[in-house]
Amino acid sequence: MEILKRIEVIQGDITKFKVDAIVNAANNTLLGGGGVDGAIHRAAGPELLEECKTLGGCETGDAKITKGYKLPAKYVIHTVGPIWQGGHRNEENLLKSCYKKSLELARAYSIKTIAFPSISTGAYGYPIEKAVPIAISTVVEELKKETIPEKVFFVCFTEDVYKEYIKHLNLIQQ
Ligand code: APR
Repeated sequence: MEILKRIEVIQGDITKFKVDAIVNAANNTLLGGGGVDGAIHRAAGPELLEECKTLGGCETGDAKITKGYKLPAKYVIHTVGPIWQGGHRNEENLLKSCYKKSLELARAYSIKTIAFPSISTGAYGYPIEKAVPIAISTVVEELKKETIPEKVFFVCFTEDVYKEYIKHLNLIQQ
């Protein structure tokens, strides 16, 4: 599938990636936190929080964009994933929406390269084996529609997450 040439899975720290945009797994306040949110704010510097304060928060499943400031990435797309509550509280659609809305924003800003962390699979407790197929299938669906972004990176901080993405990508390549 041609589309898969536009997807790459990498293990690393998303704050180090020089792509047009990195995606932040934020919370509804957009005022920072731990995990990848904390790492991104630390790396971007205080101006990121200043801009976030002007956004008025973000609904779960939605996405908002800011500049990247001291990050190598030009933009940060902040999205708020669902907190896992057992799978009967619309978590799947909300997680799908995070990827979809982030890619819609990327298109609107002519972003050619974008890196996603594994949204909701940390503090928000989304089981990784359930989140990865949603992430990959939603991105594949969106890439089929448009030529932008040209490349999507899934940046995995830990090896267990990395292996899950590779396992699922191999499955759909067969
Ligand atoms: N680069 C890439 N991925 C990272 C990094 C990093 N520097 N740091 C953490 N991660 C990974 C985690 O290992 C996990 O796989 O990001 C994934 C998402 O985990 P969290 O950051 O905990 O995000 P999430 O589960 O969506 O919870 C969001 O946590 O940090 C707070 O403010 C945030 O309240 C929000 C909640």
